[in-house]
Amino acid sequence: MTIKSDYLIIGSGIAGLSFALKAHKAGTVSLITKRKLFDSSTGKAQGGVACVTDKDDTFESHIRDTLVAGAGLCNEEIVEIAVKTAPDRIKELIDMGMKFAKKSYKDSDSEFELGLEGGHSKRRILHAGDITGEEIEKVLIDNVKKVENINIYENHMAVDLIIDKNKRCCGAYVYDEEKSAVETFLAKVVVLACGGTGKVYLYTSNPDVATGDGIAMAYRAGADIANMEFIQFHPTCLFNPVAKSFLISEAVRGEGAILKNQKGEAFMERYHPLKDLAPRDIVSRAIDTELKKSGDKFVYLDIRHRGEDFLVKRFPNIYEKCLFYGIDMARDMIPVVPAAHYCCGGIAVDKYAQTTIKNLFAIGENACNGLQGANRLASNSLLDGLVFSEYAYQKSKDMLKDIFINDNVPEFVNEATGNGDPTIMLHNWEEVRRLMSNYVAIVRNDERLQMALKRIELIKDEVKNHFRDFKVSIELLEIKNIVDVAEIIVRSAMLRKESRGAHYTSDYPSPLPEKKDTIINIK
Ligand code: SIN
Repeated sequence: MTIKSDYLIIGSGIAGLSFALKAHKAGTVSLITKRKLFDSSTGKAQGGVACVTDKDDTFESHIRDTLVAGAGLCNEEIVEIAVKTAPDRIKELIDMGMKFAKKSYKDSDSEFELGLEGGHSKRRILHAGDITGEEIEKVLIDNVKKVENINIYENHMAVDLIIDKNKRCCGAYVYDEEKSAVETFLAKVVVLACGGTGKVYLYTSNPDVATGDGIAMAYRAGADIANMEFIQFHPTCLFNPVAKSFLISEAVRGEGAILKNQKGEAFMERYHPLKDLAPRDIVSRAIDTELKKSGDKFVYLDIRHRGEDFLVKRFPNIYEKCLFYGIDMARDMIPVVPAAHYCCGGIAVDKYAQTTIKNLFAIGENACNGLQGANRLASNSLLDGLVFSEYAYQKSKDMLKDIFINDNVPEFVNEATGNGDPTIMLHNWEEVRRLMSNYVAIVRNDERLQMALKRIELIKDEVKNHFRDFKVSIELLEIKNIVDVAEIIVRSAMLRKESRGAHYTSDYPSPLPEKKDTIINIK
């Protein structure tokens, strides 16, 4: 079956949905998502959206904080666009029905109640308690569902992009899980909004869908991929054998929580003047150092002094979730560990989200536009999706009239008939995630990167064979993407002979004077 539309959007987080809500004004839209619409990292974002709204705050201050966290690798024009157009994008969200917390619940004209997170010199995080992403995602989904010319395809996973002989992207092969068939989606413009790569690591704050699909497909199609060594580890994920990837928001430290080692020492003062609110790379490395020194498996986050009433009101979701695991935040310290959280690199794009392949755009976490630099500032990620979906729309809508849908593409061929042994794929998956966590995590060195690469190459060969032997499935596509992304991260890390932002190597512990991006591609 072949499905044609002006736009093909792949992914249903804040970036993909925001883009769809604009794109339908210019043309027909097919939006595919590999699980349900709601399954994206956006729905799990707790903190909020950074935006200057307070009269005592300034754009300059938000810009400066973003540049400092980004450790010299942000693109200043992009940062300025994001910070200065943020209020317009927030207004659009509010007009669609989003309710950010206000100082007075009774008075809708009252000021926003602003949160504080690491690296911000002012309170400027708009939030909805500790379920900001979930609320935004709900609003966007409600709005998308009301629009007639947005066709939504759930349980559809892109297999690969279709690139014609003139090196233009003209669609994607897409696996329909219900039909167990691969279909051809043709479009004038393809937009990758597939989110991040957390599932490349064993411990991550990301949902199961974060398997780097957009980055892997763009790489295989020949696009430039930038700065993939910068994997940001969030300092505080709940340490619990049963809890899967539950984040304790940085906003908890913004409200006064203190990190303590198991001896009860508040150790952050030894690492940075901003202590617990230092940029994330610094806090995660500090925890890693403490854990290596002590041999302990976790450190504690202590917010008992804020008392039950405040905690229940400000962090209802975290409070409840912790209680479920037997931790009362008002009385117990919370055991936490750093976990893979955000991919600061991605598909290289310009300010209009255009990749190095014609008619292929990338927005949100799977894109690298220079906003995040070497280390993303807290709560700048939802903002990225909002702002650059608008820029992508502005550019792409004017292109539609000059692009013709290319019908002349080959059918997808997969002659394999086996059903695959899911345990083999599971073993491959676990092997990759474990070796990435052991060799390519918070502190790296050349020897470990070499060891990781050798192992990844072996697994890559095995996965190639799976494609010969097994019918297409979501598991098979995901393991292929995971392995490709792991390889890209390792190769990028090998190219950076310095420590900067989220990339720290004990072989080259200082930054170099020259600031440059790491670009890799398969050409
Ligand atoms: C958090 O709530 O700590 C996550 C926010 C973010 O990653 O920006």
